Amino acid sequence: MSAGTDAIDDAVRIAARAPSAHNTQPWSVHRDGDTLTVHVDPDRMLPAGDDTARDLLLAFGAWAEAFTIAAAGRGLVAVVESAEGIGRLQADPMTAPTEPLLVVRCRLGAADTVFHDAEILARGVNRGPLRAAPDAVRRARQDLPPGYELRAIPPHRFSALVAAAGARSQSDPTIARETMRWLRFTTADPGWTRDGLRADTLLLPGALARVLGLFTRTSHGRDRLGEVFSVANRVLATVTPMLPTRATTGLPLVLIADGSSVNVVGADAVAGSTQWPARLPADAVLNAGRVLMGTWLALQRRGVVVSPHSEVLDDPRSAARLRRGLRLRVAEVPLAVFDSGTPVRVVPRSARLTGE
Ligand SMILES: Cc1cc2nc3c(=O)[nH]c(=O)nc-3n(C[C@H](O)[C@H](O)[C@H](O)COP(=O)(O)O)c2cc1C
Repeated sequence: MSAGTDAIDDAVRIAARAPSAHNTQPWSVHRDGDTLTVHVDPDRMLPAGDDTARDLLLAFGAWAEAFTIAAAGRGLVAVVESAEGIGRLQADPMTAPTEPLLVVRCRLGAADTVFHDAEILARGVNRGPLRAAPDAVRRARQDLPPGYELRAIPPHRFSALVAAAGARSQSDPTIARETMRWLRFTTADPGWTRDGLRADTLLLPGALARVLGLFTRTSHGRDRLGEVFSVANRVLATVTPMLPTRATTGLPLVLIADGSSVNVVGADAVAGSTQWPARLPADAVLNAGRVLMGTWLALQRRGVVVSPHSEVLDDPRSAARLRRGLRLRVAEVPLAVFDSGTPVRVVPRSARLTGE
C-alpha cells in the first residue's frame, strides 16, 4: 500500500529543518515510492574541520529523527536503517561514499513520537546571551535513552575552552578556508537564502559583515579572507590564554555516549584504542544524532535554546582538557558540546536549500 505521495514529500520538506554543522545540509534524499535513500552530498562535507565525520553523522541522525517525527504526524511509520555508506564512511571519513547512508521505508501506521512538526520548524540555535535553566536541563536529562548522558561543564571552564579551541582550530589555514566557504556576510551572497552561516544568525555587527562581504564576492577573495582569518586566529590562540575569560551565563552541556553500553562493537573499539580521540562506530554516532535532536527539542519545549560549540571537541588539546576536567572514562565519548539557556534575544531563522 502506498504511504501517500504528499505526506512523504511533506515530511522530507520538514526534515530539511534539521540542524547541521555550518548549515551544510549534507543529506541528499531520493525517493522511490515509499522508500527513501539518503546519500552524502560530496560538496557538502567538511573534510578539513570534520575529519572524523562526527558532525556529518550527527546531522544525518538529526535528519532521521526530524523525518521520523514529521512522518508520524502524517500517520506514517518511518523505519530508518543504516546502509552500506555508513561502513564506507567509517573506513574513510573524508570521502563521500557512493552508497547511501540511510534507507528509510515508510508505511501507514501509528508511530510513537513525542514531538510535532511545529516544534521542528520552530527550532533554531541561538548564539546570543542565554540564561541558565537548570530545571529544564534536569528534565531533558530524564528523557535520555540508556547509554547517553548530558553532563554539565562548569561555566568558567567552558568559556576558557571555547576561547582557546575556536582560535586554535581556525588557526589551520585549510580549516579556516573551508569555514569561509560557508560564511554568508551579505544578501548579495547567492547562498544567503540557501545554506551556510549567515552574519545575522552569528550576530555579527552589520558594518563588519558588509566589509567582509566585499571579500567573499569571488572565490579567490574568499580564500584570501580565510588565510587572514587563520593568521588572526593564530595570534588569538597565543593571546587568549593570558586574558581573563568571563564565564557564560548559560548552562554548558556535553552529550556523552557510553561506548560500553551504546554499542558492543564500540566498546571494543574504544577500549582497544590507545589514542584520543577514541571513535565510536559510525552507527553509534548516527544514533547519537537522533538523541541530540530529541534533546534539543525537549529543551526547546521548556523554552530553552542551545548554542553549539563543536570546536571544543575538534581541537585535540581542548577535547583532552574537557575529558580530564570531567574525569571521563575511556569508554565515555563526548559527541556534542553546547551552551543552553533561555534566550535573551530573538535571532533570525537560518536558511535552507529547500526554502523551508
Ligand atoms: C553536529 C552539529 C555541530 C554544530 N556545531 C556548531 C558549532 O560548532 N558552532 C556553531 O555556532 N553552530 C554549530 N552548529 C549549529 C549549526 O550551525 C546550525 O544547526 C545550522 O546553522 C542551522 O541553523 P539552525 O540550527 O538554527 O536551524 C552545529 C550543529 C550540529 C548539528
